[in-house]
Amino acid sequence: MEKEMNFKKLFKQISPEEICDNVFTLAGKVFPVITAGRMEHYNSMTASGGGFGLLFRKPATWCLIRADRYTLELIQKEKTYTMSYFPDEYKEQILFLGSKSGRDSGKMKEVKLTALKTPSGDVSFKEARLIIECKLTQITTPNPDDFYTQEARDYIKEAYKKASDYRRYVFGEITHVWVKK
Ligand SMILES: Cc1cc2nc3c(=O)[nH]c(=O)nc-3n(C[C@H](O)[C@H](O)[C@H](O)COP(=O)(O)O)c2cc1C
Repeated sequence: MEKEMNFKKLFKQISPEEICDNVFTLAGKVFPVITAGRMEHYNSMTASGGGFGLLFRKPATWCLIRADRYTLELIQKEKTYTMSYFPDEYKEQILFLGSKSGRDSGKMKEVKLTALKTPSGDVSFKEARLIIECKLTQITTPNPDDFYTQEARDYIKEAYKKASDYRRYVFGEITHVWVKK
């Protein structure tokens, strides 16, 4: 279900400082749905981890995205994306977006969420309660030699078995934050 609605009737803009959620809860419990592309063609994936802070004095988010995710390809193409957080009742749909790639499936048509265009032309969903719009600032691929604890070295060794397994650190400047009215 893809409908364009009046975004500003449903969401109000707040500043990054006004986000009330605990950052660890946002990163680890309410899995964000990362969406890139435009209304004509967009794709979403479920994420976990990452965080929020200041990067080069600007409010920013960061997340870890595996190199072969189709959403990452669209982030690189458009240079913008949204991170959408949903109430618990949408958990099934959120996990569904993390269950298969949109590169070779019609998951964006199947998912029971209503796509919405933000005033900047990014895509999120009517059912979201918090939407963070980001401008891509940096994608970094960590070097295994940069890790200093055994645990991190073991993790990255395991994660880097194939080039497609590489995790990219994706940093985005927060351009807008929206909450459900
Ligand atoms: C709860 C959950 C958390 C996930 N976290 C991440 C993540 O942080 N980074 C990542 O690359 N994939 C993560 N995934 C896997 C992607 O969401 C999944 O591979 C998705 O199908 C990728 O879609 P795409 O290829 O259409 O972009 C997660 C999946 C689930 C269910």
